[in-house]
Amino acid sequence: MQHHADSSLVPAFIKTKTELWEHIILQLASLLDGQRDWVTNLANTSSLVYHSLLSYPAFGNGPSSVNWCGFYINTSLFPTPKIRMDHSAPSDASSRLLLGPFCGKPACQFIDITPGKGRGVCADAFMSRRIIVVPDVEAYPGHIACDGDTRSEIVCPLILGSSGKEVTLGVFDLDCLAKGGFDDDDRRG
Ligand code: SME
Repeated sequence: MQHHADSSLVPAFIKTKTELWEHIILQLASLLDGQRDWVTNLANTSSLVYHSLLSYPAFGNGPSSVNWCGFYINTSLFPTPKIRMDHSAPSDASSRLLLGPFCGKPACQFIDITPGKGRGVCADAFMSRRIIVVPDVEAYPGHIACDGDTRSEIVCPLILGSSGKEVTLGVFDLDCLAKGGFDDDDRRG
């Protein structure tokens, strides 16, 4: 019997990052099969990716380790229900990304995505709808340092397309302790 945790084990025959990401995607498909709850799926996705990368020598425990992996979600699409004892209407959701399921140390809770005001890698990836690879976070204007040990980062926007329309749900963010931790193989993965 395969336990859920086993899905994050990386077999020894996997030698390249391309093979690693192909393996993770296969494991992810099986892990998410039959489950449609977004909290559950983002939680398991962050855990699967984080622990799979840690099992791969280039990202393994040590000075070039991945140190954070998780999601920021668009609060206007996932509004937080408020229990209001006076039965008043909830206020409108503001333009922010909210910290979602993740693996790693505690991180900043909100990221502003107001056009012209938002800053940081996550806000830029969200607003441009493009994957951003940052080889050196200290050289990235506006980078938000949740952990002073982080040296490089990759952020991927989560884009849902349906009937010719697209909506950006949030971002998937990965951090690394070494400069240049992520490259085009990770971008494709
Ligand atoms: N560095 C990100 C903030 C999120 S933390 O890395 C978890 C940014 O600049 O948006």
